[in-house]
Amino acid sequence: MSFSELAESRRCIRSYIKKEISDEILNKLLEAGRYAPSAGNCQPWHFYVIKDKTIREEIITKVYPAKWVMEAPVLIVVCAIPSESERRYSSRGKDLYCIQDTAAAIQNILLCAEDNGLGACWIGAFSENELSEVLKLDESKRPIAIIPVGYTENKPLKTKRKPLNEVVTILGDNENSTDLNSMNNDNTRSFMHCDMSGILFEDVNLGDSTFTNINMSNIHISDVNLSESTIHLSNLSNMKITDSLIDGLSINGIDINELLKKS
Ligand SMILES: Cc1cc2nc3c(=O)[nH]c(=O)nc-3n(C[C@H](O)[C@H](O)[C@H](O)COP(=O)(O)O)c2cc1C
Repeated sequence: MSFSELAESRRCIRSYIKKEISDEILNKLLEAGRYAPSAGNCQPWHFYVIKDKTIREEIITKVYPAKWVMEAPVLIVVCAIPSESERRYSSRGKDLYCIQDTAAAIQNILLCAEDNGLGACWIGAFSENELSEVLKLDESKRPIAIIPVGYTENKPLKTKRKPLNEVVTILGDNENSTDLNSMNNDNTRSFMHCDMSGILFEDVNLGDSTFTNINMSNIHISDVNLSESTIHLSNLSNMKITDSLIDGLSINGIDINELLKKS
């Protein structure tokens, strides 16, 4: 998977199956966190790994009461150490840089989880005091995120994002400036690594969409615009397409019209 595909396919996962994570993969996640950039390379962070059932239960009962968190075999708690950034950058280090640094570490962990076929979620809605008490943290540590990590069979579809032209402004004169409306790919959809078996698609516009590594077995597509869409590496057994626009649809790099001629 390219980096762009990885960044796009990552989701917050809130459902895990019963499968342990090897220490080798767990180390990869922690290494990814450790390689994050930090202001002045202060690395003002500490990562707690919690596999212990009693401590996980205590977190769920006292800090973040969501049952799905207990399904994850491992929780990683990412803490900032504000004093380490303050020493070098005063209040900007204490109040801002150490939070930005740990956020970069958290995102590295989430992306590394995705890269290794794991699901993870960034949890920030908790009382820092309660979590500090449960983990018996010393006063130098500020817990920033709880990251449940585990394998999943329930990856949600793509979460919506604001269009590029709403969140990007290109400043200054630039004759060759890009038209953000043309960069805005909100009308094209990308479905990756998910199970769509048995789904019925009716009267929807999926033109220009990309389907990669999808289980589409027993899917029924009716009255759907699939023109110029691409399907790669997917399970298409018993897929039915009826009354749909399929001009330019390609499957594994072959145009649908070529496939129909062959059959
Ligand atoms: C700072 C921060 C705090 C978050 N806190 C929580 C949380 O407490 N519980 C939760 O279920 N998700 C939490 N999330 C996950 C967001 O809900 C999620 O990233 C967002 O809805 C987009 O979905 P996606 O990550 O699957 O693309 C948090 C994300 C961030 C960045």
